[in-house]
Amino acid sequence: MPTVCVIGAQWGDEGKGKVLDLLSADADWVVRYHGGSNAGHTVWLGNEKFVLHLVPSGILHPHVRCVIATGVVVDPRHLLEEIDGLESRGVKVAGRLFLSDRAHLVFPYHVELDKLAELRRGENRIGTTARGIGPAYADRASRIGVRVAEMSEPDAFRRHVERNVEEKNALITGLYRAKPLDAGAIVAEYLECAKRLRPFVSDTFAMVGDAKRRGERLFFEGAQGALLDIDFGTYPFVTSSHPITGGVTVGVGIPPRDVERVIGIFKAYTTRVGAGPFPTEDPGDLGKRLRERGGEFGSTTGRPRRCGWFDLVACRYSCELNGFDAGVLTKLDVLAGLSEIPVCVAYGLPNGETTRFPGNVSVLERAVPRYEKLPGFDGDVSGIRNYRDLPVEAKRYVQYLEEHLEIPFSHVSVGPEREQTIVR
Ligand code: IMP
Repeated sequence: MPTVCVIGAQWGDEGKGKVLDLLSADADWVVRYHGGSNAGHTVWLGNEKFVLHLVPSGILHPHVRCVIATGVVVDPRHLLEEIDGLESRGVKVAGRLFLSDRAHLVFPYHVELDKLAELRRGENRIGTTARGIGPAYADRASRIGVRVAEMSEPDAFRRHVERNVEEKNALITGLYRAKPLDAGAIVAEYLECAKRLRPFVSDTFAMVGDAKRRGERLFFEGAQGALLDIDFGTYPFVTSSHPITGGVTVGVGIPPRDVERVIGIFKAYTTRVGAGPFPTEDPGDLGKRLRERGGEFGSTTGRPRRCGWFDLVACRYSCELNGFDAGVLTKLDVLAGLSEIPVCVAYGLPNGETTRFPGNVSVLERAVPRYEKLPGFDGDVSGIRNYRDLPVEAKRYVQYLEEHLEIPFSHVSVGPEREQTIVR
């Protein structure tokens, strides 16, 4: 297996958790390269449900070593909670999980500012996960962020955090008229976390590079989805990192040529959480049906996801952006029982029709999808394991998407469990 990167091709929640768990069985290392505890990757093992936010999904395979790389922003309280939760359920994490010494920390002031900024935006809110992700990346870019390695020098760490809290409190109390945070309490809590996290902290840049040179199998785990990319997504309704293939090289510190295979995860329909344009959204009964049948509620926030139809304009853009070698199509089972399945093939805009994804959200907001309607299929497909056993209309749907995306689907997922997968 070459070095593989797995990317959400839409607006996140494509079912990456399951696919990552499935594919990483063949990996030696699974490396998470961006985002933070805004992500929620769900993996079902029999009747047991695991929701992972920061720890890579590979952790559920005992032979896999997992890395939280430099591009991730880490709330150490969430990380410890997740490690404890996994250990208490018999998943060995110690000695298998490595946290980059260069990764930036998420602090309570980031979380507070994330919430306060959203409140202030009112109707223009982004609908963030309120995990402090945007403010933490903003501090990184402003060069006032605090990195994991700094926790090993308590005095300097304290001074740095105190300086930041002073600055943030000026904003919190001045602009937002909210209560100031206590720097001393934050420092004390984080230094306690630091003691417990010390064994996990590593130079993951060197570690991943050495693994690559030894010919070990590396797997890069994306979170969120390409259309939430800070630059190429539907800005400003995006996350603050790069969930795209390019994000791997800067998030891990590896040359682009070392990403040998890129796999895009596509849901058989589309969902989005939070605000922002979504041309194929179906706010009516069919959208509601997708939500209910697909269990479309956020695994991090519990929010109902907005649901709609497969959007070839957006997904072809995602293919171009990421250079997918292959795709995985998930949740095909959710579409069973529909008499026809709409697929968006073009957008109608005031100045004509386009098959290009607009870079400007105000244009995208005006896009009227033009649909092609494919015949639906009946019956429960969740027990099917051979592609040839799928109803002919289901195969037609899969092949239609492949032809228009110009990539093959290596797997089709028909249910949440590892086994509910059709390998092509
Ligand atoms: P943030 O990443 O919390 O700043 O949220 C920014 C936008 O990205 C919001 O629309 C969120 O709903 C969305 N988002 C963040 N993480 C995820 C995810 O894991 N799945 C889907 N959407 C996400």
